[in-house]
Amino acid sequence: MDYTTIAQWLNEARNIVILTGAGMSTESGIPDFRSTEGRWRNIDPLTVATTDAYAMNYDVFHDFYCARIAALDGVTPHIGHEIIAKWQRTRQAFIATQNVDRLHQLAGAAQVADLHGTIRTVRCGRCEQEAALQAFIEKETCTCGGTLRPNVVLFGERLPAGAWDTTMQSIQKADLVVVIGTSLRVYPVNQLPTMTNGKCIYINLQCEDDVAASYTFDAILTGKAGDILQGIDQALQLK
Ligand code: OAD
Repeated sequence: MDYTTIAQWLNEARNIVILTGAGMSTESGIPDFRSTEGRWRNIDPLTVATTDAYAMNYDVFHDFYCARIAALDGVTPHIGHEIIAKWQRTRQAFIATQNVDRLHQLAGAAQVADLHGTIRTVRCGRCEQEAALQAFIEKETCTCGGTLRPNVVLFGERLPAGAWDTTMQSIQKADLVVVIGTSLRVYPVNQLPTMTNGKCIYINLQCEDDVAASYTFDAILTGKAGDILQGIDQALQLK
């Protein structure tokens, strides 16, 4: 599928949804989860990113999230994030992400549905009181005695209701959904592309056979998200 056709679809669309995953952030230097260099290749997510890990293995849980927080130091959005933020301003695109890094917001996106929460803020896991990020890093406890945790969604937890509901509503009325940099392995976000009656585009380094078979994408663009978004954005400017 050529960029001119995708640009035409964007121009015709009244309601655009952009749904991103970890592949959106790799070009900023943050590893994804399931690629050869992905986080889950070396660490079993069940040992670090679950409610059980938080409750019963706090030291390991804490080390894992502190390393992820430290890895955000100096990380900045790339051109792809900037283009998406621009499409939100100029085309009212709705942005939903599984990423916890807030790079869409740092690129200037005003509203983003953080479906898996954010790693940049923390709270007490017992009384839910917000706390300072530094307090989590230094392993302080809350005044109630509870341990601190990032505001991410752990395996075994529900997605934030507000983010989920607004994303589902936006997808249901969308005439164009652009899915970027996600393996579509994680429920329930992987259900979202099936909920639209509009066109659905998949942008990813590759499209696995079972993914191609499970979804009815109108276009599959394989390559780096930043390059493809630039190609589409340039085609939009030629119009
Ligand atoms: P994955 O690591 O499962 O998938 C990332 C996808 O992005 C892979 O298919 C890569 O090939 C692709 N990719 C990598 N770099 C890319 C690039 N520069 N351009 C385009 N595509 C690229 O990550 P997610 O699908 O986001 O959840 O994972 C979903 C959830 O699983 C995460 O939010 C996290 C994880 O467990 C929780 O921790 C709750």
